[in-house]
Amino acid sequence: MARIGILTGGGDCPGLNPVIRAVVRKALLEGYDLVGIKNGWKGLVENDTMPLDINAVSGILPKGGTILGTSRTNPYKKEGELQKVKDNFKKIGLDALVAVGGEDTLGVASKLVKDGIPNIVGVPKTIDNDLSATDYTFGFDTALNVATECIDRLHTTAESHHRIIVAEVMGRHAGWIAIEAGIAGGADVVLIPEIPIDIEEVCRIIKKRHERGKTFSIVVVAEGAQFKDGSMVTQEQKLDSFGHVRLGGIGENLAQQIEKATGYETRVSVLGHIQRGGSPTAFDRVLGTRFGVKAVELIVAKKFGQMVALSGNKIIDVPLSEAVKELKTVDKDFYDIAKVFFG
Ligand code: F6P
Repeated sequence: MARIGILTGGGDCPGLNPVIRAVVRKALLEGYDLVGIKNGWKGLVENDTMPLDINAVSGILPKGGTILGTSRTNPYKKEGELQKVKDNFKKIGLDALVAVGGEDTLGVASKLVKDGIPNIVGVPKTIDNDLSATDYTFGFDTALNVATECIDRLHTTAESHHRIIVAEVMGRHAGWIAIEAGIAGGADVVLIPEIPIDIEEVCRIIKKRHERGKTFSIVVVAEGAQFKDGSMVTQEQKLDSFGHVRLGGIGENLAQQIEKATGYETRVSVLGHIQRGGSPTAFDRVLGTRFGVKAVELIVAKKFGQMVALSGNKIIDVPLSEAVKELKTVDKDFYDIAKVFFG
């Protein structure tokens, strides 16, 4: 019986379990045997697996996170790990692999397809929604709804205390969570990595708003937003195995600058991993399920080296190499819509 493996890599996000469930259910219907690879590429380096049958995926649809575990392991980073991946792929007896991940995990998948493991299909996930070649990644909608709810909550306390509150959201180098949560939550200023921060302009907008009688403001800032000189605020300079810095802290920096320049009492709220946890929205459950079923259809058709993707309302497939070629960032049209409501 042919065997399919599935792994989830990179930051977890709501919707991973619906994908795992869909892959298992569809693959069983098609007569495959399944195995779960634990903790992303690390599981293939270490031959760490778990059995996956219909009972293993029962009840996981509404659960956040991933029953397989995850890691940010890059097998191209450490000498010898690539060979271990290849050896273990054979040892585990895999005929195909479903790699569920973002830019990094799928980047490894794309390289492996050229480096001797062609039978891979990719499934795009990330709360950041920054993968090109798909209109949406699952996980984003849940993170967006969490962030929007947090902004609603921040509004009531900011208004009562006549304060400015800076809400820092995730998203790495793309401003999707910030811009959409900012629009949905009615933020008074939204700052995203795609548009350099003009702190004088931010303070001018807030002052003008207060002059028309408003005594509070909400500023949403993406963790990867940059100042005009190109600098960003990071938690540490150390890079992870994919060359990423740990972002975070820009909210505090901005809050201090805003308070100093405007004289208005300012607080900061960093939403952090709260955006990544918890139960997936119905949208993410449905998208994850559609992606999982399509991934198995690609395997059945022996259409490897592809990533499933959402285009409009259709699930399509695109070459993995295309999908990881460039980041999808917020375009100016979107930002201009948010701007209408600034101040
Ligand atoms: O890519 C998802 C993401 O949540 C980013 O938005 C964020 O910068 C990063 O992961 C945080 O990573 P970690 O969970 O390793 O702190």
